[in-house]
Amino acid sequence: MDRMFELMDEPHEIQDKKGAHELTRARGDIAFDHVSFKYDPDGSEILHDVNFTVKAGETVAFVGMSGGGKSTIVNLIPRFYEVSEGAVRIDGHDVRDVTVKSLREQIGLVLQDTILFSDTIRENILMGQPNATEEQMIAAAKAANAHDFIVSLPQGYDTTVGERGVKLSGGQKQRVAIARVFLKNPAILVLDEATSALDLESESLIQESVEKLAADRTTIMIAHRLSTITHADRIIVISHGKVIEQGTHQQLLRQQSAYYDLYKIQNLTI
Ligand SMILES: Nc1ncnc2c1ncn2[C@@H]1O[C@H](COP(=O)(O)OP(=O)(O)OP(=O)(O)O)[C@@H](O)[C@H]1O
Ligand SMILES: [Mg+2]
Repeated sequence: MDRMFELMDEPHEIQDKKGAHELTRARGDIAFDHVSFKYDPDGSEILHDVNFTVKAGETVAFVGMSGGGKSTIVNLIPRFYEVSEGAVRIDGHDVRDVTVKSLREQIGLVLQDTILFSDTIRENILMGQPNATEEQMIAAAKAANAHDFIVSLPQGYDTTVGERGVKLSGGQKQRVAIARVFLKNPAILVLDEATSALDLESESLIQESVEKLAADRTTIMIAHRLSTITHADRIIVISHGKVIEQGTHQQLLRQQSAYYDLYKIQNLTI
C-alpha cells in the first residue's frame, strides 16, 4: 500500500499550464516544428529537428527501420511526452497551450500493443464515447469488422476480456480498439501498426476497417508492411530520429533512395 500511495502522490509529468484553453472540434491540421526529443533529460537525443505538416483530412504514413523513432513521433501528438525543443501544433495551437483532456478528445489511437481493460467488450468500446446508444455501439463494432466475432463469444458484448476473462487474439483486440475509435469519431486518427504477425484473415479485416476509419479525418499511420500504405497522401521516411525523405509512393520510388531500398527489402514488385 505504501508503494501504491507513493505512486499516486507522484505529480503527473504532463500538466495543464495556467490558462490553458480547450481545443474543441479540431480541424486536424498537425505541424511538427523543429522538434527534438529526449526521453531522459540526461540521455541521448532520440528525435533530431523533425519537421513536417499534415493538412486536415490527409493520410500520412511513417516508415523506416525499427527503433528509428516512429512511435516516439506519434506519442508526442497526444502529448504523452513533452518535446525537448521545438513545438507540436494542432490547428496552429501548441499542444502545451491547450488542456490535455481536450487535446486527447480530438485524437483516436490504435497502438502497437492494444490494451483492453479487464471489463466487458461493451464497456471497452463505450470508452470511446460513454454516452453512445446501444445501436451506435453496435454500428461501431460492425464498422470495425468486430461484430461477428463478438456475437459468437459466449456472452456476446457482455463477455469479459483481459486478465480475468476471455483472451482475445491480437487481431480481435485491435478490432475492438478500432470500434472504440469509430465511436469516438475524432478529427485525428493515429495508427501504430502491430509488429506482431496477425493471421491473414484478421489482417485483411483490419485493413478494410482502417480504410473506412481513415476516410474524412487526418490520419497518421505507422506501417511496417509497405503494401498497406501505397495510397497515402504522403509517406515520411524516418531514420535515426530524422526525416530523411518524404513524398508520394511514386515520387519516392522514382528517387531510388531509402524508401526504394525498404521496398526492395520487402520483396514487393515495383
Ligand atoms: N519509453 C522509452 N524510454 C526510453 N527510450 C525509449 C522509449 N521508447 C523508445 N525509446 C527509444 O527511442 C528510440 C526510438 O524508438 P521508437 O519506439 O520510437 O522506434 P520505432 O521507429 O517506433 O520502432 P519500431 O518500428 O520497432 O516500432 C529507440 O532507440 C528506443 O530504444
Ligand atoms: Mg514503434
